[in-house]
Amino acid sequence: MPQPNPAALDFLLTRRSRPAKTLTTPVPDRDALMPILTAAGRSPDHGKLEPWRFIVLERAALLRLADLVDARGNELGRTPEDIEKARAQYANAHLAVAVIEVQKPSEKIPAIEQTYSAGAVCLALLNAALASGWGANWLTGWPSHDAEFAHQGLGLADGERIAGLIHIGTETSAPPERPRPDLGAIPQWISE
Ligand SMILES: Cc1cc2nc3c(=O)[nH]c(=O)nc-3n(C[C@H](O)[C@H](O)[C@H](O)COP(=O)(O)O)c2cc1C
Repeated sequence: MPQPNPAALDFLLTRRSRPAKTLTTPVPDRDALMPILTAAGRSPDHGKLEPWRFIVLERAALLRLADLVDARGNELGRTPEDIEKARAQYANAHLAVAVIEVQKPSEKIPAIEQTYSAGAVCLALLNAALASGWGANWLTGWPSHDAEFAHQGLGLADGERIAGLIHIGTETSAPPERPRPDLGAIPQWISE
C-alpha cells in the first residue's frame, strides 16, 4: 500500500513563487541555507554526473553584478528599459543562489539530460526555500544568457551556464494566485 505524506503533497499542490521584487531582509544565513542547498542537490541526475553547482550571491556581489549588467547592456546595445529592468533584479536583491549547469563529458548521458537535471535542481531549490518559510523566485533575464556576463561576473568556464537565479528572502506580500494549467485537459491517457 502507498504510504502518503499529506503535508508534502499539500505543499506541492499549493506552492507558489513570491516575486523577487517583493522580497526583503532578513535572508537565510549560511546555516539556514545549507539544508536548502542539500535538498536541492538531492535531485534526479542520470549517471551521477552532478552537472550543476551553486554560487551563493550575497548583497555586495549582487551590487557588483548590477553594475556589470549596466556595462554589458550598453556594450550589447540593449534599450535603456531592458538594461534597467535587468539591473534592478540584481540591485534590489539581498540573496540569490545561481544554479550553474556544468556539462560533464559523457558517452552515455546526453547533454540535454544534464540540462534537465540542472533545471530540476532549480525547482528543488525553489521548493526547499519555500518549504523553509522563505519567499523565493526563479529568475533569469537576458544577462543570464550572456556568456560574457557569466564569465566576467561569475567566472564561469566553457561548458557552464546559468540555469537560474533563485532569489530568496522574506516575503512582504503574498501575490495573487496565478492561473494554473487545466489538468483536466492536458493529460493524454493511453490504456492499450
Ligand atoms: C527558467 C525560468 C526563468 C524564469 N525567469 C523569469 C524572469 O526572468 N522574470 C520573471 O518575471 N519570471 C521568470 N520566471 C517565472 C517565475 O520564476 C515563476 O515561474 C512564476 O513567477 C510563477 O511561479 P510559481 O508557479 O512557482 O508560482 C522564470 C521561470 C523559469 C522556469
